[in-house]
Amino acid sequence: MENELSKALAESFSMKGGEGPSSYAQNSSIQREKIEAAKMFLQDAIAKKLDPNALSANQICIADLGCSTGTNAFIAVQYIIEAVESQYHSQGLAVPEFQVFFNDLVLNDFNTLFRNLPPERTYFAAGIPGSFYGRLFPNKTLHVVHSSSTLGWISEIPREITNRNSVAYNKGRIHVGDAPKEVVDAYATQYQLDMETFLNARAQELVAGGLMLLQIPCEADAMLDSEISRTKFFELLGSCLADMAKEGIFGEEDLDSFNLPLYFPPLKNLEEILEGNGDFSVEGKEIYPEISLIAPNNVKMGASHCRATLEVLIEKHFGDGIVDDLFQRYVRKVMEFAEVMKVQKFKSLVLFVLLNRKP
Ligand SMILES: C[S@@+](CC[C@H](N)C(=O)[O-])C[C@H]1O[C@@H](n2cnc3c(N)ncnc32)[C@H](O)[C@@H]1O
Repeated sequence: MENELSKALAESFSMKGGEGPSSYAQNSSIQREKIEAAKMFLQDAIAKKLDPNALSANQICIADLGCSTGTNAFIAVQYIIEAVESQYHSQGLAVPEFQVFFNDLVLNDFNTLFRNLPPERTYFAAGIPGSFYGRLFPNKTLHVVHSSSTLGWISEIPREITNRNSVAYNKGRIHVGDAPKEVVDAYATQYQLDMETFLNARAQELVAGGLMLLQIPCEADAMLDSEISRTKFFELLGSCLADMAKEGIFGEEDLDSFNLPLYFPPLKNLEEILEGNGDFSVEGKEIYPEISLIAPNNVKMGASHCRATLEVLIEKHFGDGIVDDLFQRYVRKVMEFAEVMKVQKFKSLVLFVLLNRKP
């Protein structure tokens, strides 16, 4: 069961809906590139590890978790279906019907997703509202789970980072960049709990032999926090909010009580969490280098992508009408930063991973 705080967060944000210029649908090409980059990994995983005879299923149930408005999820689902079909064909078996579940938080714009379902699709489609940090499906009903660019969102803001009396109080910042170790530890603890909850829920929902294909944002182990591109990206965004607070556009306390529900673990920690779960075996991994959003050529695109993912959350907290100003400041600030720093050294990673539900 979700606690009240995580329920509140899960019910308070979504990506920017619709298909307008600032929508997630129009500002998610970076996420789409990762899905395209993972195509071979995904097809290879299904060819090697999905055994139609062992599944003996009348229908194949696929879930895409954290689908947003679908533009990218449709591509991933199509790759999965093609790979499963060719697996059945290669064994001379009749291909079962496909049921695809598109999941996201309750405020997600499912209308846009439903409106844009590919007309030529070969599957039955349904929307599943709710947090993937809890059960979403009945026992042993899923054959393939896919999720991309989602498992950096944590279920709740760690309580201690908004508690003035805690050593982990994250005053004047919105994330882990330039924050004391206690803040990073609080995020890391929340992340670990969430990942375990995620894996335990999926372990119940997947059939034995079912596959989970995840793209999880993470960071290189030996990297300094100050050289991680995502960390620097959010640190610079936070410093724009701090400037706005100083100018009186909103109160300092508004800044102090705002923290991003995002965390990107060191790769080694992520691997330990995945390998430590007794219900799944890790059957394949690939490391993908994420493009740096603070490289000068990517700054404007980075800002529009970030805006599409954070606008709803930011407006909910700081009030309507600040995001234009915020992201204009942000682009200027990153450009200035890029001029003085060697931004090539800033990096971030994504782990493509294949998990198999043990019998
Ligand atoms: C950056 S978008 C990725 C969308 C899509 N998977 C893609 O690759 O383009 C992250 C999505 O995860 C969803 N999300 C975040 N936390 C979630 C949760 N606890 N349960 C379900 N969806 C969640 C967000 O609402 C958002 O739509």
